[in-house]
Amino acid sequence: MKTIQIALAGLGNVGSGVFKHLTRNRALFESRTGCSPLITRIAVRTPAKERSISLNGIEPVADWRSLMTDPLPDLFIELMGGTSEALKFTRAVLERGCPLITGNKALLAEHGAELFELSATRGAPLYFEAAAAGGIPIIKTVREALVGNHILSMHAIINGTSNYILTRMASEGLDFAEALADAQHYGYAESDPTLDINGWDAAHKAIILASLAYGFWIDHKQVYVEGIDRVTQSDICYADLLGYTIKLLAIIKATPGTDIEVRVHPALITKSHVLSSVKGVFNAVAIHGDVVGDTLFYGRGAGADATASAVLGDIADAAATLRCAKPAPAFRPHDLYGRCRPIDEIVSQFYLRLAVEDQPGVLAKIAEILGRLDIGILSVIQPEIRDEGAATLVLLLHDAPRKKMQEAASVLADLPCVKAPPHVLWVEHPSDT
Ligand code: HSE
Repeated sequence: MKTIQIALAGLGNVGSGVFKHLTRNRALFESRTGCSPLITRIAVRTPAKERSISLNGIEPVADWRSLMTDPLPDLFIELMGGTSEALKFTRAVLERGCPLITGNKALLAEHGAELFELSATRGAPLYFEAAAAGGIPIIKTVREALVGNHILSMHAIINGTSNYILTRMASEGLDFAEALADAQHYGYAESDPTLDINGWDAAHKAIILASLAYGFWIDHKQVYVEGIDRVTQSDICYADLLGYTIKLLAIIKATPGTDIEVRVHPALITKSHVLSSVKGVFNAVAIHGDVVGDTLFYGRGAGADATASAVLGDIADAAATLRCAKPAPAFRPHDLYGRCRPIDEIVSQFYLRLAVEDQPGVLAKIAEILGRLDIGILSVIQPEIRDEGAATLVLLLHDAPRKKMQEAASVLADLPCVKAPPHVLWVEHPSDT
């Protein structure tokens, strides 16, 4: 049986998970793949640090360059995180024509075009199942299982921390700060949860999925990203009254032309939609293909074990490629699509919450402004609660271009009867494709 010698860069949560499960499931792995993967070199930031797993006599090194001495290992795994040293390491491995597995979503989102080009020109296979949705095999699904489909849309909950926070806000009435503190206490959120909260962790994964689905590497500067920090307990309650749940969604869609939409933001979705039932730290990806119709993929999107499972799958793929020596391209570009539609051109329903003076004629004035901008009203509620002397008006609005909605919000903000900046959220109907 061929032994696959592996060099691992990074031994944090996920790296340790890979080492542990590869050791534990070795016999199963060998009988299923016909080869024996063995981690023989490890690079870590702090070699002297005490670890909870036994490294079977391997002495970790501090510099990843020490992994690259001759004879080179058969396979490299990058689980360092960050985009600085990880980029240098990834380039160095691919430039030598060696196979590489990475779970680094930020690295691929920012440098994917360059790295896939390098992988193709050097014939160096690049695997990245762990870079989106952790344990859900979504990369394989989009690239291989659904290869005969035009992907019409994907709606994805791909940040467990945000989903946990929104779930706790909805189920227990916590406010944002309390729910975030809980997420940190239980170790779901990073100690610096910035990328979880501002939407960019989900956006990195969305860029990878959208690029695979639509055949051109998406420029992260063209992706609209909004985090969950503006969602209030009141929004969650009013959404609930109207029959909706608020989720942080990654929305990826084809349009009738060659544009696609890629955006990440909180959105109201109907409580009857299956994504509404995705609670806590779980992830889910709903994909609508022109042949297959609706599909749903659900599971743990983060954590050492779920992410290690994705890396183990990539090791098996790398082993098969090492044996047949004919790697499939990691990313196959095509020109059926070619542009991310600018956010202002995107048409959507919207939720609008206003703090207004409780006076006759106020509602009529607001309706008149919306009507003038050609924005129709779908429903209105005015609960008998007053916040600091103002009444609250909550409106669901018919489809409008986002630019019009922004214009309306800005005109409304200038009205003397409107007491606080208008609060706008997107409303999404995932099955309407
Ligand atoms: N912090 C991410 C999450 C996992 O909460 O889903 C890593 O991308």
